[in-house]
Amino acid sequence: MKWIVCQGYETMCQKAGEQFKAFLSQKPDGVLGLATGSSPLGLYDYFARQTAAGAMDFSRVTTFNLDEYVPMAEDHPQSYRYFMDHNLFSRINIDPGNTFVPKGEETLSCSEYDQMIRKRGGIDLQLLGVGHNGHIGFNEPGERLIAGTHITKLAPSTLSANARFFGEGERVPDKAVTMGMATIMSAKEILVLIGGRDKHPVVNALLDDGVTTHCPATFLKLHPRVTIYCDKEAYEG
Ligand code: F6R
Repeated sequence: MKWIVCQGYETMCQKAGEQFKAFLSQKPDGVLGLATGSSPLGLYDYFARQTAAGAMDFSRVTTFNLDEYVPMAEDHPQSYRYFMDHNLFSRINIDPGNTFVPKGEETLSCSEYDQMIRKRGGIDLQLLGVGHNGHIGFNEPGERLIAGTHITKLAPSTLSANARFFGEGERVPDKAVTMGMATIMSAKEILVLIGGRDKHPVVNALLDDGVTTHCPATFLKLHPRVTIYCDKEAYEG
């Protein structure tokens, strides 16, 4: 794993953005894996600014998002589809038909999502945030992790962390559909954003030598091409 420790959140997003920019200049029709949450917001601002300046071109890019709440209608303001449309897709020159977010209806076929990724040649560069409990996507800590895209129950700590995105009295859905560990690990390259002192315990788990289902992010140590962009607060605690 390669670590890039930055002074603050803005520098971290700038540096990560430069990696995406360099990647797309090499492969303009690349397949990106994307995340929601607060970690990527600065990076998505960078993409929007670069697109406006004509310095990044998403016209041939395909994207696959990690996860979505279940049950969740696509047009619901708390859906990850809505989040992506609002925070990124409407601000860059991407073809909406090439943006994929797992569907939050219980009837969906999860294996179909993995097949769609494979059909597009697999994910070239996967963006990840990391939960306080070490989850990636919504692969929550436990005795057992799941390989493919699947429906999962969210951990109580994830529900309380995500409550900040919901209004008062609004219930955070307690299930989600998420890419599985093998789906994520089969990306050719992975870029992780970790910011804030509260993520220091996860940074420690990534810095030591252990790999454990109780901190799913530690599986990233088994991947040959992972870069972690981290701010000083997260790194030093
Ligand atoms: C989001 C996702 C999650 C988040 C993680 C960190 O699509 O898959 O794993 O990346 O919960 O969230 P933030 O960035 O809000 O701290």
